Amino acid sequence: MGMSQSPFEGELIRLRAREPEDEPLLHQWVNDAEVTEFLSVRYPLSHGQEKAFIERTSEIGYGYASFGVETIADKKLIGGTSLERMSAENRTAVLGIMIGEKAYWDGGYGTDTMRTVCRFGFETMNLHRIELDVFAMNERARHVYEKIGFVVEGVRRDAQYRRGKYEDVVVMGLLEGEMR
Ligand SMILES: CC(C)(COP(=O)(O)OP(=O)(O)OC[C@H]1O[C@@H](n2cnc3c(N)ncnc32)[C@H](O)[C@@H]1OP(=O)(O)O)[C@@H](O)C(=O)NCCC(=O)NCCS
Repeated sequence: MGMSQSPFEGELIRLRAREPEDEPLLHQWVNDAEVTEFLSVRYPLSHGQEKAFIERTSEIGYGYASFGVETIADKKLIGGTSLERMSAENRTAVLGIMIGEKAYWDGGYGTDTMRTVCRFGFETMNLHRIELDVFAMNERARHVYEKIGFVVEGVRRDAQYRRGKYEDVVVMGLLEGEMR
């Protein structure tokens, strides 16, 4: 019998806790207009705010997963992912993901991160349902989510006003046993 798979590792990436030293990279990503085009971030974020974010997401010990995403090959931090707003009664949580290093986009890292964090949600947090919101214009992200089994459950029309126009927000969900 082989060793069971690490709950934190996929094929390309590993989920790990964030460290204070990660702050400059996080700050760079959340202030990069090409990254935040796809996120709910609107305003510039300071080094102090990012430092506080790392501290806040590190001190909560249960019912909340917030990870740095690093490559297995060279342990380079390339993004982050989280499962938040967990409901113990409903066994649900809301997923967020950002590959902040643009050079790594379209390299399979986001797909591997999604599979790994969802597996963590089902196998370690005992979730039944994982949900997320995605801007309708974020075709890359929608493609990745559908590829791994997320189902479109509805559209919140014009729910976000960004960069001069309204965007539809697509609501997607994945139930335990549905991941591909
Ligand atoms: C969305 C994100 C997580 C995807 O991760 P990634 O590592 O770039 O994606 P992958 O390489 O794993 O997969 C990309 C897939 O989308 C496809 N794709 C790329 N651009 C596309 C487009 N415009 N329309 C449709 N599909 C597209 C690729 O062909 C690839 O498909 P395949 O695996 O079937 O060949 C990442 O790009 C990211 O974090 N972007 C910025 C922030 C963001 O959008 N976060 C999500 C908010 S909901």
